[in-house]
Parts: sequence; structure tokens; C-alpha cells
Amino acid sequence: MEMNKKQRVLFSADDISKKVKELGQIISADYEGKELVVVSLLRGSFIFASDLVREINVLTQIEFMTTASYGHGEETSGQVNIVTDIKDDITGKDVLVVDDIMDTGLTMEKILEHLKQKNPNSIKSCVMLDKPERRKTHITPDYVGFTIPDVFIVGYGLNYGDYYRNIPYIFTFDE
Ligand code: IMP
Ligand code: MG
Repeated sequence: MEMNKKQRVLFSADDISKKVKELGQIISADYEGKELVVVSLLRGSFIFASDLVREINVLTQIEFMTTASYGHGEETSGQVNIVTDIKDDITGKDVLVVDDIMDTGLTMEKILEHLKQKNPNSIKSCVMLDKPERRKTHITPDYVGFTIPDVFIVGYGLNYGDYYRNIPYIFTFDE
């Protein structure tokens, strides 16, 4: 693993925590008086989802799903497979799917399609980062932290070669 490439910070830990608080307030207001089921997509969203749910003040359950997209490099192949499904029944529940980033949108599209078949009352999506330039579907996330151009980023749950998920800020490698 290349460790000595130069890092360029896009969002500091402080930028991130402010944004997550803001999202938490908006989501709490939107779901006031309701119960929420947050579905966190592993592994990328584990940090964002854990920060976000602590900023949400409506009654909330947490579920996890794992997806895999084969033919991996730095991007999805287009073939998204569900490796681990949620455990509990979401019939009639208000569901919020949380991911680290929306890139092509194929992962979120697949997950929403899958979860809709379980008859929730409502289903929305929330991502920390959105790269709309890369979209290969018509999907738009309902809640977005930061919109970014087409750059490969790491940190705050996002990986490069399975490293850097633990870095508390979001950065890119300058060539
Ligand atoms: P999508 O299905 O193309 O929207 O891709 C979603 C998944 O691709 C994310 O959950 C990430 O795991 C991965 N991904 C997309 N862009 C980046 C990036 O810039 N850095 C790290 N992972 C990324
Ligand atoms: Mg992912």
C-alpha cells in the first residue's frame, strides 16, 4: 500500500461534524412523531451512520446491509449483490438508507428496489457525499452532506484498497 502520496483534505473532522449535526436536525424534524429505521450500508457507511444516528432524536432502530459489487477497482462494476440483508420486518416502517457516497447510484438503486418489496411506509436515502457527475441512473439522494466533483476520495469510512476508513477527515490523493 502506497503510504507516501500527498494528501489533500477536502473536509476536516470539524467540517464533517458540523454537517452531520445539520443533517441530524433536518432528519429529526422531517420524521418528528414517527419511528425511523436507519439501514446502514456496510462497510463504507459505518462511521457516518454511527455519527448520524446520534444526531437524530426520534425513536430509531438500526439495521445493517452488506453489498458487494464485483469486478472491483476503484468503482462498481454495475452488478450489485446483496450479501447480508436486514434482520427485522420493516412493513409499515419509515426507512432511511444511509451510505457513505453516491457515485453511479447503482448501489442505492438496488437497495431501494430490494427494500421497497418489503412494504415499508416510506423509504428515503441519505449519503454523506454525492458525486452527481458520475451517475448512471436517475436516482437522487434525499439527504446529502456534501456534493463533490468527480474525484476519488478516502477517509471517514471510505476506503482505498481497504485502508483509510479510520481516518477522521475526507481527503484525496494529489498525484
Ligand atoms: P455507486 O453504486 O457507484 O453509487 O457506488 C457506491 C459505492 O462505491 C460507495 O458506497 C463506495 O463504497 C464506492 N465509492 C464510490 N466513489 C468512491 C470514492 O470516491 N471513494 C471511495 N469509495 C467510493
Ligand atoms: Mg460502499
